[in-house]
Amino acid sequence: MVSELRLFVEQEFQQKAQQYSAVLSSRGVKVKLEIIEKLNARFLRLNPELALCADASGLWLCANGMKMQPDWQAEVPRLKRSSLKSEMIARACNLGEKPTLIDATAGLGHDSLLMAHLGANVTLVERHPILFTLLEDSKNHAQNDAFLSSVVARIDLVFSDSADYLTQQAEQQHVVDVVYLDPMFPQRDQNQQAIKKQAQVKKQMQLLHMLLPEDGEMDLGDHLLTLAQQVAKRVVVKRPRLAVYLANLEPDHQWQGDACRFDAYFQHDLLE
Ligand SMILES: C[S@@+](CC[C@H](N)C(=O)[O-])C[C@H]1O[C@@H](n2cnc3c(N)ncnc32)[C@H](O)[C@@H]1O
Repeated sequence: MVSELRLFVEQEFQQKAQQYSAVLSSRGVKVKLEIIEKLNARFLRLNPELALCADASGLWLCANGMKMQPDWQAEVPRLKRSSLKSEMIARACNLGEKPTLIDATAGLGHDSLLMAHLGANVTLVERHPILFTLLEDSKNHAQNDAFLSSVVARIDLVFSDSADYLTQQAEQQHVVDVVYLDPMFPQRDQNQQAIKKQAQVKKQMQLLHMLLPEDGEMDLGDHLLTLAQQVAKRVVVKRPRLAVYLANLEPDHQWQGDACRFDAYFQHDLLE
């Protein structure tokens, strides 16, 4: 986990940056505010270390001359093209039934944005304080967007480790229709193959790999499956197409795509 990050901002957005800094500090991330003259591509190239920056579009993660944010606005064309019929995730999560859904591994929130657009009521859980703050900022911006505002009205954000959150739900006997798990970003060596389609996605992945722990140090999310099974009628796990099963547990059903697949586990004792 990065313990102190610089946050670059032009004078004009200093107040906003102070708010980000206070929020991040309340989540255990120390931020050093640096007022700069011009936040542009040249500045980012000259300051290649991992940092944050803030401008009119909100909070960004930056490094190696690039900057990225979850950018839900950029997802709008994809949302507009999507339908319950065309999306494999819609069949896997039974989105036609407008399910209550916990996405226990939020990341950039793109899968959940799509699921909320297609009708799910989503609780999005993320444990990384910087990613969570980026998500929160994306949601705040989306609330002012004519198309996205009705979509994000169906999304709640929770800053927590999902193991704790799911345990709490189980203790309170809260049952949801679906828990969705997508614990791992494609590994560094899979990047070229898995995401060669989009330069923007590739950039996001490079920066996220700098932020998140090395693959070897990272838990693989196996423990989340049993916890999810205690609170959901259906658990859906997104996996790279050829990856092993989560927790080595064979699913009840699979949907196979070109780059990824969805493994589904049905909890018959929780189904009415
Ligand atoms: C591959 S990404 C998810 C990508 C996401 N499906 C999307 O569409 O952007 C995995 C995310 O899950 C988060 N994560 C992994 N294990 C978690 C846990 N136990 N609790 C909360 N978040 C977790 C990681 O921090 C990372 O941001």
